[in-house]
Amino acid sequence: MASVTINGRPVDVQARPETPLLWVLREHLGLTGTKFGCGAGVCGACTVHLDGEAIFACQTPLEAVAGRSVTTIEGLSPSDEHPLQKAWIIEQVPQCGYCQSGQIMRAASLLRANPEPSREEIIDAMASNLCRCGTYHRIVRAIEHAAKGAQS
Ligand code: FES
Ligand code: FES
Repeated sequence: MASVTINGRPVDVQARPETPLLWVLREHLGLTGTKFGCGAGVCGACTVHLDGEAIFACQTPLEAVAGRSVTTIEGLSPSDEHPLQKAWIIEQVPQCGYCQSGQIMRAASLLRANPEPSREEIIDAMASNLCRCGTYHRIVRAIEHAAKGAQS
């Protein structure tokens, strides 16, 4: 058993220590906003925060998160009013939507570390997250939009 804080709530998880965090979130806790894409650390669909840093949940075993704090898309903002979530709607970013929770979690980690990123810094930070629908331009615009809102 491992004790983890998930979206601000302490949770005891009954699973083997090597179980990927992605499985724990989706199968044990029903937090299906975090997506399974490649399962190999190359697509970013499973991006969540571990103590505020973006990580791939498919590559992170349960034992690595014991005693630590995990945030998923469901816990990013209690009211779904994170500046990125609002900007995503304004810029109409998603197409199929599958990659988008990972994109938003990656972007949130970027803005936390760098509230005023340049376009190049945004593109560089988001390079780990793929979108089969090619929404990259709208993702960049939404991050710029959210960053501007945070400054005003
Ligand atoms: S599912 Fe984790 S990086 Fe693709
Ligand atoms: S919106 Fe379809 S994969 Fe990104």
